[in-house]
This record gives sequence, structure tokens and C-alpha cells, in this order.
Amino acid sequence: MHTPPASPFALSQASRNMGAVLILSLLGVMFGGSVLTWRIVNLPGYLGSPLHQDLWRAGHAHAALFLVLTLVLLPWIDAARGSEGLRWALRILISSASITFPLAFFLGAPNPGTVAPAPALGLLIPGAILLATGLTILVWALLRKAPAPLGQGDAE
Ligand code: HEM
Repeated sequence: MHTPPASPFALSQASRNMGAVLILSLLGVMFGGSVLTWRIVNLPGYLGSPLHQDLWRAGHAHAALFLVLTLVLLPWIDAARGSEGLRWALRILISSASITFPLAFFLGAPNPGTVAPAPALGLLIPGAILLATGLTILVWALLRKAPAPLGQGDAE
């Protein structure tokens, strides 16, 4: 009889829900990749505009990268020491990069006629600050000492 393997890691219900949303969002990345493929084949201006093509490729790639990064970090966020509020802040800060970075890249050169980066590319700065804040707090929350069990704090 087939016995399913024990789960390699335990996930909180919050991370399970968020993971489901992130995995579904990868379908959006697949759709975006199909749009890029269509543009390569059917839109002559796409390959003729390095700025537009580079930034749109970066938009697609960073959406994928940060969705996968957040998925990888969900169990680590569950393991972080702190309140559930802190863990939600980490989930939001880290996953926000999969919105801010692609938005900055796509709007930074919105069409093949764009000759200079648009101001929207500046969204990379708040995006990077939010992500760096989330990653730094996650490291701190992973390494901080576990609180002493109740009643043992004043034993010494
Ligand atoms: C139907 C699914 C997909 C299609 C048709 C597709 C198509 C493409 C195309 C055409 C490019 C190059 C765009 C250009 O040069 O202008 C690209 C780049 C890229 N894609 Fe996708 N993609 C798909 C799904 C995914 C997924 C699921 C991921 C990751 C989870 C991903 C990650 C990337 C990365 C990292 C790049 C940049 C590669 C580089 O610059 O060397 N793609 N994709």
C-alpha cells in the first residue's frame, strides 16, 4: 500500500494560503512570457528597441524571481522568532518586490518607441528598500535568542 511521505516541512496556514496565491501568480508570469514571445515574433519594433526589450525582459524575469524567492522564504518566515504580526510584515515586505520591480521595469520603457528610461523606473528604489528591509528583519528574527520559558527568566 502506498504511504504518502511525511511533509518535509510544516507550513503555517498563513504561509500555505500565501503560497497558493504565489504559485497561481506564476501562471501570470507564464502569460507574460507568452506575450513576450508573441512580441518577438510579431512586433518588429520589439527587437529593434534594446532599451524596451531589456527592461521588459527584466520585468518578466524579476516577477518570476521574486515570486519564487518568496515561496522559498515562506518556511523561513514561519521559523522567524516574533509575533504573527511581524511574520505578516515579513511576508508583505518580501513579496512586494514581485510587484514593485516588474512595475518599474515595464513602465520604465512602456513601448518600443521609448528612447530614454521613464521616471517610473525610479520605483526600483522604494522596491529595493522594502525588500532589503524585509530580508534584514528576517535575518534578525531568525538569529535572535528564543525567549526563556515562563518562570525561568528570573531563576538566576
Ligand atoms: C509560458 C511560459 C513562459 C514563456 C513563453 C516565457 C518566455 C520568455 C521569453 C520570450 C523571454 C525572453 C524575452 C526577451 O528577450 O525579450 C523570457 C525570459 C525569461 N524568463 Fe520566461 N517565459 C515563461 C515562463 C517563465 C517562468 C515560469 C519563469 C521562472 C519561474 C521564467 C523566467 C524567465 C527569466 C529569468 C528570463 C530572463 C532570461 C535572460 O535574460 O537570460 N519564464 N521568457
